[in-house]
Amino acid sequence: MRRRDFFPALAVPAALPTDAIFQKDPERYWLQLRKEQFYLPETRAFMNNGSLGVVPRPVMQAVQGYMENAAALTIPEYEYPRWGYETLDAHRAEAAEYLGCRKEDLAFTHNATEALSTIAAGIDLKPGDEVLSTNQEHTSGRAGWLLKQARYGTTFREVAMPLPPPSPDALAEALLKEIGPKTKVLFFSGILSSSGIVMPIRKICDAARARGIVTVVDGAHVNGQIPIRIDEMGCDYYAGSPHKWMFAPAGCGILWGRPEMLERLWPSIVTGGWDSKDDHAARFMKVGTNNRAIFEGMIAGIRFGKAIGWPRVYERIHALARDMRTRAAALPYVKLLTPDQDALYGSLVAIELEKKLADAFMAECERRKIWIVRGLRIRIAAHVHTRPRDTEAFFDALAVSAKKVGA
Ligand SMILES: Cc1ncc(COP(=O)(O)O)c(C=O)c1O
Repeated sequence: MRRRDFFPALAVPAALPTDAIFQKDPERYWLQLRKEQFYLPETRAFMNNGSLGVVPRPVMQAVQGYMENAAALTIPEYEYPRWGYETLDAHRAEAAEYLGCRKEDLAFTHNATEALSTIAAGIDLKPGDEVLSTNQEHTSGRAGWLLKQARYGTTFREVAMPLPPPSPDALAEALLKEIGPKTKVLFFSGILSSSGIVMPIRKICDAARARGIVTVVDGAHVNGQIPIRIDEMGCDYYAGSPHKWMFAPAGCGILWGRPEMLERLWPSIVTGGWDSKDDHAARFMKVGTNNRAIFEGMIAGIRFGKAIGWPRVYERIHALARDMRTRAAALPYVKLLTPDQDALYGSLVAIELEKKLADAFMAECERRKIWIVRGLRIRIAAHVHTRPRDTEAFFDALAVSAKKVGA
């Protein structure tokens, strides 16, 4: 197979479908958007933004265009084609505007894992100090605290979350009631990884703050999936993975902190400038030579969302998820983890299946080229490229599998 056959040639992206099309026939708008702006073949149903998103054409072009210009040295010298020593002020300003924070408090990293590891390693804690968390954290969130526990004798305690939760308050209460005299840090995900449940971030952070407890929010699933500003969350530290929901290419992460919290955070990967506190968050971007093109892509992704209209994106993807949820709720062979309340989920719906059914379903999805996360707990993700027919295909594959195994 020639490379060109495998990977479609980069073409200048078409203009977005017009607003007139959206007003007249929204389904046509979204179909056209998928067809013209994404590389996804007709035959693929991609339902795993929860792991890593697929980039649209303008993002791919920004990455490739930047790399080509860098190779040809057609970029100005002051834009040396790397990051890892630079502060990328213009990029951070544009990202901060979308994310809802100050540029000075925002650093780019490679992913949420890196940001979370930096935060866990960089907070000063004494032996016996407790980090309180949920039992629903991603391994990338837990690992930094487990490492700290093993190395420094701090403790990491996980509290069971009610799943599905009866209300946002029930989630907050489950966590807050466990705060004890040794609790120094509260760490939790803004959107829980394997269930897609949206946590009441502000409520938890405000309550913790009132008790002098540092809050760290894992926002890997937040930005691009639900409309919330970082500076509205009330947390002290925040980590994100724009390559999941923000159309960014793989390898884009963010680290945010309140100014006074960043000031006292120790960096882990260092070069000259590690202690230059006048750089504020950019101190955490001094990590050595890196590929700057991915952040050109990240900014192109933010602009892509902005061109569609982020509110329109959120409304669409939540409506798709609501439809998935409604369908799942009607199936006797499915354990649904996503509650009915809109505030408790964004664009992820989670179901659990018996092993026999899950195995049959995975095989059926593979046969039909439906891309989903694998396992007994299945997290269905909708994004702007998701078609109603993808949802149909998903539930049809599930019904066929259930029949096959007699579920
Ligand atoms: C809640 C949560 N945190 C952190 C991560 C790690 O993200 P990344 O692999 O982008 O570092 C994930 C990945 O799925 C996640 O779901």
